Amino acid sequence: MQMLSNAIQINQCLLKEAVKNADLLVDATCGNGSDTLFLANNAKYAHIYAFDIQKEAIEKTKEKTKKYEKNISYICDSHINMKKYVKHKADAVIFNLGYLPGASHEITTHADTVLKTIDAVKDLLKINGIISILAYPGHAEGYNEYLKLLEYTKMMDKHIFTACWYKLHNHTNAPAMCWIEKQG
Ligand SMILES: C[S@@+](CC[C@H](N)C(=O)[O-])C[C@H]1O[C@@H](n2cnc3c(N)ncnc32)[C@H](O)[C@@H]1O
Repeated sequence: MQMLSNAIQINQCLLKEAVKNADLLVDATCGNGSDTLFLANNAKYAHIYAFDIQKEAIEKTKEKTKKYEKNISYICDSHINMKKYVKHKADAVIFNLGYLPGASHEITTHADTVLKTIDAVKDLLKINGIISILAYPGHAEGYNEYLKLLEYTKMMDKHIFTACWYKLHNHTNAPAMCWIEKQG
């Protein structure tokens, strides 16, 4: 039996468990809405904030998550402004980096913005809250994000955060997952 899966599948297994009793979740890059829907399906009592800078992405997410719309705040703004909207502590903040599948590859997440957002999000997390990041080293900005995140997470204070990476090692362009837990 094959035991190893790619980072996206491992991420979903972890997220399922991490969000099931959550009351506040943030999808920092909602894109086509699949991740927001995944959160809504697995955290029935949570309020979810879904961010994207593209109007098209917000519309797609609204459509995909229609049955949960009362529990979701759709925000067309950069995740860097998260604290303007999210006023209570979060159980999880998730990032699925890169560009909107099927749209312009020019509009993508950027390492500097993502790192500044993670810095700001650290005190928005509950104890035992998590930050989950999927990075895609297969395209230029994705590779840059991956390297900067590796560096950044290595330097996180181990008394406050535990940071872990998962990537299929011999698949050069495979997606990579970073999972950060805030300790009690
Ligand atoms: C890989 S897609 C996300 C996939 C999505 N979670 C899904 O389930 O379809 C990355 C998204 O990040 C968005 N994005 C880029 N920079 C952003 C920023 N600063 N703040 C919020 N969203 C951003 C892009 O517009 C794009 O839709």
